[in-house]
Amino acid sequence: MKGIILAGGSGSRLYPVTKVYSKQLTLIYDKPLIYYPLSMLMLGGIKDILIISNKETIPLYKQLFDSGSQLGLNIEYAIQAAPNGIAEAFIIGEKFISSDCVTLVLGDNIFYGNLEFFYKALKKNVNATIFGYQVNDPERYGVIEFDGDGNALSIEEKPAKPKSNYAVPGIYIYDNEVVSISKNLKPSARGELEITDVNREYLKGGKLKVEKIGRGVAWLDTGTPEALLQAANFFGVIEQRQGLKVGCVEEIAFRMSFISRDKFGKLINLIPKSSYRNYLERILNDN
Ligand code: DAU
Repeated sequence: MKGIILAGGSGSRLYPVTKVYSKQLTLIYDKPLIYYPLSMLMLGGIKDILIISNKETIPLYKQLFDSGSQLGLNIEYAIQAAPNGIAEAFIIGEKFISSDCVTLVLGDNIFYGNLEFFYKALKKNVNATIFGYQVNDPERYGVIEFDGDGNALSIEEKPAKPKSNYAVPGIYIYDNEVVSISKNLKPSARGELEITDVNREYLKGGKLKVEKIGRGVAWLDTGTPEALLQAANFFGVIEQRQGLKVGCVEEIAFRMSFISRDKFGKLINLIPKSSYRNYLERILNDN
C-alpha cells in the first residue's frame, strides 16, 4: 500500500500565509498541520509516501522531512503545477503508485480518536473504500446518500440540497484502477478533476465500499482561520490534559517500530532544546 498526501491547493481563504507557502505548513497547536495526516498514514502502517504540493512549498517539505528515512519512511515529492483537482494526485503519482494500491489523505484533514475504522478498511479493502461522517454543514463537502440498509446510492460534490448529513472525509483507499479512472476524468464545471467523480465511477461499477465513521472520532476541518484556531485549541486541550502529543510523527515512528530505540535516540539528539524535544526524551525514557 502506497500513501499520498495532497498538500497544495490555492488556500485563498488563508491569505496572506498562503502567499508564501501552502496552508498545510501552518501551526496546529505545536506542530505543522501536515504532521496530522502524515501520522494517520503512519499509524496505518504505510511507509512509502508521496507528498504533492506546489513548487513554492515542496522545498519546505523537503527541509522538514528529507527522504523520511529518519522516521523509517520513504518520502518522495512531486509538484502540482496548479490546483487542478484532487484526482490529479493519481495522475501525478502514477509512477510512484506503480502497480500498488494507494491511500490518499488530504493534507488539511485531521482525524482524532479511535482509528479502528481506518485500520479495518485498510485490511478489508477490495476495490475502493471511502468513509461517511455526520456533519452539520454537508453542503460544504462530498455528500453520500444511503438506502435503508446503509448502502451508498449516490455521491454529490457540494450539493445545494444535500441528500444526507454524511460528508466524505479526505481519506480514500483505492486499488490500482484509480490511476486509469483518474486519467479518463473530464474537469468539472469548476475546472477540477473531482475526487467525487472517481468515487462515482467506483460506485457505478458496484466497487465502492462506504464505511460510516462513528461520533467518537473527531474529523476536524482546517479550511478557515476560525477552524484552524479551533483545531489548535482542541489539540492543546487534549495534549495538556493527557501529557501525550497527537500527531507526533517521531513518536509514532518509534512506537510503530519503524525505527529502533537507538535511532530514535539519535533523532532526538538532532532536535534543538524545546518542549518538543523534552517530550520525545520522556517517551524514550518511559519505553
Ligand atoms: O475535506 C473533505 C472534502 O475535500 C471532500 O468532502 C470533498 O468531496 C472534496 O472535494 C474536498 O473538498 P474541498 O472543497 O474541501 O477541497 P479543497 O479544494 O479545499 O482541497 C482539499 C485539500 O487538497 C486542500 O488542502 C488543498 C488540497 N488540494 C486541492 C486541490 C483541488 C491540492 O493540493 N490540489 C488541488 O488541486
